[in-house]
Amino acid sequence: MEAGILGGGNALGWLAVILFGLPTLAISQESGSPRGVSDSMPVQVYRPMGAGSCSARACHGSTEQDFTFQDLYRRSHTTWIQADKHSRATQVLHNDRSKAITTRLNFTEPAYQSVRCLACHATPEIAPDPGPYLFRFGSDGVSCESCHGPASGWLEPHVSQSWKSKSPKEKSTDYGMNPLGTLAERAENCVGCHVGAAAGGGLPLRDMNHEMIVAGHPRLTFEFAAYLEQMPKHWIEKAPSKDYRAQSWLIGQLATAKATCELTASRAKRNRQEPPTAPWPEFSEYNCYSCHFQLKPALTWRAAGKNRDEVGLPEWGSWMTPRLRDLSLSVLKRTDSHIQRELDELAKAMRLDNTSPAAAEIKAEQLAKQFGDWIRKLEDEKPDPGALLDFLEAERHDTQRWKLAHWDDATQLFLALSALSQPDSPRPGGSLQRRNLRPKLDIDSLRQLLMFPTGKESPGDFNPSLFQRSLDRK
Ligand code: HEC
Ligand code: HEC
Ligand code: HEC
Ligand code: HEC
Repeated sequence: MEAGILGGGNALGWLAVILFGLPTLAISQESGSPRGVSDSMPVQVYRPMGAGSCSARACHGSTEQDFTFQDLYRRSHTTWIQADKHSRATQVLHNDRSKAITTRLNFTEPAYQSVRCLACHATPEIAPDPGPYLFRFGSDGVSCESCHGPASGWLEPHVSQSWKSKSPKEKSTDYGMNPLGTLAERAENCVGCHVGAAAGGGLPLRDMNHEMIVAGHPRLTFEFAAYLEQMPKHWIEKAPSKDYRAQSWLIGQLATAKATCELTASRAKRNRQEPPTAPWPEFSEYNCYSCHFQLKPALTWRAAGKNRDEVGLPEWGSWMTPRLRDLSLSVLKRTDSHIQRELDELAKAMRLDNTSPAAAEIKAEQLAKQFGDWIRKLEDEKPDPGALLDFLEAERHDTQRWKLAHWDDATQLFLALSALSQPDSPRPGGSLQRRNLRPKLDIDSLRQLLMFPTGKESPGDFNPSLFQRSLDRK
């Protein structure tokens, strides 16, 4: 079996579940309006045209191997269909696992016709009313237009001579082609499906919650730098910066945090509707392993750096917002304790023993806006690459601060260090900046420690102390 980013198995491996006075999960998960699309904002509606529109040999479907680098785009469709998992994303909705998921969720329609699955497993625009599209390109998967934007407005003009002189902004506002040139634009596109997003702008709700995970869906653990690296490139990286992967890591952390806060705000809002249309609190936002016990218990509260009153309470945002405090202080040069305070306030509003959707909604919205501002700012004033690399390296030696008590923290640290120490590959054969870490990091054996046991989808007996020792081994 092909291994994913970290693991490969299939069967669920949750060993024991602690049940403590938790609110019920019984609320069904329907999105706000009948088709799952927000009707509050009028949008210019572009229609998807299907990947078949791009696949001609003379367009993006060439099968020639010996292109010069500049001509790589002529193989975009070929690369996608041959090597990119996205091209199979709708097909997986026909498999047994998907059938099991929809059966457990009592869906009346099969997964491959359900807006709740197609929202992320196809071009999101087709999900609300898949009928007309399924017939024509029902198994396209996450295809060209999922990322580049539905093509009804740009398919014809984009082959004309004058297209080249248009700016990405023009292509987007006048024709509906998504800008993806900067790392920020890309990351914000990926997180829509890999983290999730509220309905809006003609797009359906994309919500991977605990209910779907219980039914058998894999947990989403997105880290932009690793995922971008893993995705087979069908384009030319025009002007990769020297610290391309470290930058991807930084932008990805912020984009993931922003998407997480937006989704939290939308869940809080939907829960406050009468009747509620989302459960609250949403368990998938918390550290899974604090409720789902592993063979080896986590470290004690003291070693885990928790306050005594937080012992036993699952941590909110353990995957999505792990390093932001330190980042804001050392790389983004925000010397005030602003972000720390606001994250603390959000965490407080999310405390499982006393959580408040009203407070969480306001806080999460504010934070999302702030992350958005940071991302925009980073695009203008790129942080000093040295500072970012120094930061990542310091992180490694400050494992006290990481409190490697659980798999989420260890894995995020691992991914940060990989972004710093592995060779970049935006250009075939190109070589960009890479740090020689001392002591040298043995990425492969660290990865082994994080991999899920065969056949499992949880870290099993992940051992934090062993991981920590391996980090420091000379
Ligand atoms: C919020 C977006 C989102 C929604 C909604 C969603 N999925 Fe997924 N799904 C994903 C992503 C992203 C992955 C890949 C996870 C990874 O590898 O990081 C995935 C993976 C899967 C897999 C495993 C695929 C494999 O290659 O092993 C199955 C099966 C699946 N989804 C079925 C479903 C079904 C059925 C539904 C509807 C009930 C659904 N998904 C809804 C985003 C979503
Ligand atoms: C999962 C997201 C995703 C999917 C699916 C996808 N692309 Fe892309 N594509 C990108 C990203 C990111 C870039 C880099 C953008 C840039 O450099 O402007 C890109 C770049 C390109 C480029 C080069 C653009 C340029 O200005 O240099 C072409 C051509 C292209 N894609 C065609 C396709 C085609 C054809 C398909 C479908 C067969 C497709 N893409 C599917 C994300 C995607
Ligand atoms: C329209 C929704 C959507 C968008 C946008 C999207 N993805 Fe995905 N992605 C998926 C789904 C669904 C899967 C799971 C496919 C499967 O397993 O069959 C997936 C799978 C992947 C995988 C394979 C993961 C594995 O376990 O092997 C990578 C890598 C990936 N995506 C990277 C990206 C990147 C990078 C971007 C942004 C440039 C992006 N994706 C944008 C929905 C999306
Ligand atoms: C606050 C505690 C809590 C958190 C946090 C939590 N869960 Fe659960 N989980 C439960 C409870 C309670 C059940 C059993 C009730 C049910 O089925 O909904 C359950 C059931 C499950 C099941 C089905 C169990 C089985 O053996 O069939 C899976 C899978 C699961 N959770 C995965 C996750 C994942 C992955 C995360 C993190 C993204 C997570 N859970 C976070 C409390 C939690």
